[in-house]
Amino acid sequence: MALVALGVTGGIGAYKAVEVARGLQKHGHDVAAIMTRSARRFVGEITFEAITRRRVITSQWRPGANADIEHISLASDIALLLVAPATAGAIGRFAGGIADDFLSALYLATRAPVLMAPAMNTNMLEHPAVRANLATLGARGVQFVEPGAGYLACGWIGKGRLAEPDEIVEAAQRVLQPSGSLLGRLIVVAAGPTYEDIDDVRYIGNRSSGKMGYAVAAEAVRRGARVILVSGPSSLTPPSGAELIRVRSAAQMHTAVLRHALDADMVVMAAAVADYTPERRTAGKIEKADAPLELALVRTPDILADLGRARGGGSAPVLIGFAAESGDPAERGRQKLLRKGADLMIANDISAEGLGFDSDLNAATLISRDGTEAFPAGLKTALAAVILDRAEALLAPQTT
Ligand code: C5P
Repeated sequence: MALVALGVTGGIGAYKAVEVARGLQKHGHDVAAIMTRSARRFVGEITFEAITRRRVITSQWRPGANADIEHISLASDIALLLVAPATAGAIGRFAGGIADDFLSALYLATRAPVLMAPAMNTNMLEHPAVRANLATLGARGVQFVEPGAGYLACGWIGKGRLAEPDEIVEAAQRVLQPSGSLLGRLIVVAAGPTYEDIDDVRYIGNRSSGKMGYAVAAEAVRRGARVILVSGPSSLTPPSGAELIRVRSAAQMHTAVLRHALDADMVVMAAAVADYTPERRTAGKIEKADAPLELALVRTPDILADLGRARGGGSAPVLIGFAAESGDPAERGRQKLLRKGADLMIANDISAEGLGFDSDLNAATLISRDGTEAFPAGLKTALAAVILDRAEALLAPQTT
């Protein structure tokens, strides 16, 4: 099938990379393992050699390895460079273009897609240096299998544990053999709340968790689409395979969505975009006083309506919006569909107990130009599938 370079770096999750190698082989792929020096402190190279039935690359200085400049020849032969686990060090070397070992040289030399499964202590993962490096790599097209949350080897409970081998293999499969009803489509999903800063400390936000939008993004990835997920502040783990753009304010979301919308086949506005933002942001912290504080708020741009206008009479991208309402959601949703020029509106009643905001459940009415359809209370993941079923029917046929 395909030759996959599996880079194993020095994290405790290195032992799980053995299972990743086996999983790739089960799909018929050939695996060339590359171990960094610190990876070999966790797992012996013989383990990978026995499983992959290939010499394990541990250094570019090994005699014989330079007859064909191994990192260059391997770079052109592989269909994927997968790094699991990817330590903060490996992520930093890749981001900085520092080719001081075989793996980082291979990263610079290859034009194959790159998939990384980060694993590290929670604080390391959240460090601005690591976050900046991840963002740099993401902007270059590197894809990630997000680390999970749970018990970490260092004794902490938090985010940073290497994703499970099955999940990593599945993500690799998606890169190697993309398939699904949305293959070749670009879908932009906006999710989560927006935060409108009042000063350097305070902001106006809302209770959206991002669950609905993240569920749509995950389902679209499963169906083979290229997904750009524009997310307001959310603590959710983004679906692996989606390209994540983090934003904070409605204005930033507007810019990010519009930048990609013209090339997109579909835009799903599942975000709870703030309708108002402070007229001006105060530097520092507004001192409290006994007198009431008056804030002047101005309207934010309506992203969905702008997309509807930008599309003019055309039918691409397909536009999907959400309407959170507390009175007659179906009728108000229909009005919004027409006013904003959308193709499908998902209206839900936010006054229903246990549904909607911050819940895994939702009940909704799907409103299109042709009529309405009820989705009784169910999982947001199930609603995401129904939404994409309906939206797919609205897509123009693909031109090849
Ligand atoms: O007008 P309302 O906020 O109820 O409309 C909700 C829909 O419009 C959602 O799909 C939301 O993402 C989108 N919206 C937007 N820009 C705004 C406000 C809402 O795109 N400024």
